[in-house]
Amino acid sequence: MVVRASAYADELVQTAKTIASPGRGILAMDESNATCGKRLDSIGLENTEANRQAYRTLLVSAPGLGQYISGAILFEETLYQSTVDGKKITDVLVEQNIVPGIKVDKGLVPLAGSNNESWCQGLDGLASREAAYYQAGARFAKWRTVISIPNGPSELAVKEAAWGLARYAAISQDNGLVPIVEPEILLDGEHGIERTFEVAQKVWAETFYYLAENNVIFEGILLKPSMVTPGAECKDRATPQQVADYTLKLLRRRIPPAVPGIMFLSGGQSEVEATQNLNAMNQSPNPWHVSFSYARALQNTCLKTWGGRPENVKAAQDALLLRAKANSLAQLGKYTS
Ligand code: 13P
Repeated sequence: MVVRASAYADELVQTAKTIASPGRGILAMDESNATCGKRLDSIGLENTEANRQAYRTLLVSAPGLGQYISGAILFEETLYQSTVDGKKITDVLVEQNIVPGIKVDKGLVPLAGSNNESWCQGLDGLASREAAYYQAGARFAKWRTVISIPNGPSELAVKEAAWGLARYAAISQDNGLVPIVEPEILLDGEHGIERTFEVAQKVWAETFYYLAENNVIFEGILLKPSMVTPGAECKDRATPQQVADYTLKLLRRRIPPAVPGIMFLSGGQSEVEATQNLNAMNQSPNPWHVSFSYARALQNTCLKTWGGRPENVKAAQDALLLRAKANSLAQLGKYTS
């Protein structure tokens, strides 16, 4: 048995605890340039660096955001970017009491030998990239891989996803970054909630098996799971109570209490649905901080309200703060619609 000694062990545990603090969660604003382009296109804006900068300035400088948001995940461009008025984005976040994080995976590619499934690239050179990200102010990292239910999932795809997450987590901890472990189980498909539950159990069993094999310090990681829901095309819809029951059953069966925080992704749920589901999960005490790491469910209305117009910045920030506050209340189990 190898006992892992990371020079950063105490700091990792402290960072994870800070992010998993009561009434707060993560703002995911790490859309790659391609994805950010789709978002900007939806409001009729061109995908230029200036437009991405304007939008991200709006997000990080929303007044009082740090009351509800403990961490913000950035894309590499944003980590090194300044606001439109010349302040470093990372400095603005730290002033808001928000920990800067960084997406470190290099995206999905087809998994050879599988049924049109994917794997996630980015392990080559990861240690040196992460050392530089730490120098630039990042204190946590994100690696998102996906599992498709309609396409399998094959044993191969699940093993590859779990192994990649575990290698990434170990490398991140060696470089002072708290790894967010994110095997997203995609919503696509006609399957019912039971099937998602079965797949999620398999994925998390395998992920924790390899995290342990790689001597990852569980107290210094955060998880970013999908909620257990029916497939997006399934006719039987689930209530927030059912989603909460299945998701909590999954977490209790598979996630050790040493893990400080479970930060759910929204995965295409509507803004209100994502808040209601989180609220339902926080109606009784949990061994972990159960919270959010939403992109679309925090940003959708904000982005639309902005529409690329400087005169709408304040209204757009208010829209972001409204969702952030609602999810903060949901983290405490106190949201009422
Ligand atoms: P959504 O909340 O829009 O699913 O995005 C979260 C995220 O960061 C996915 O990796």
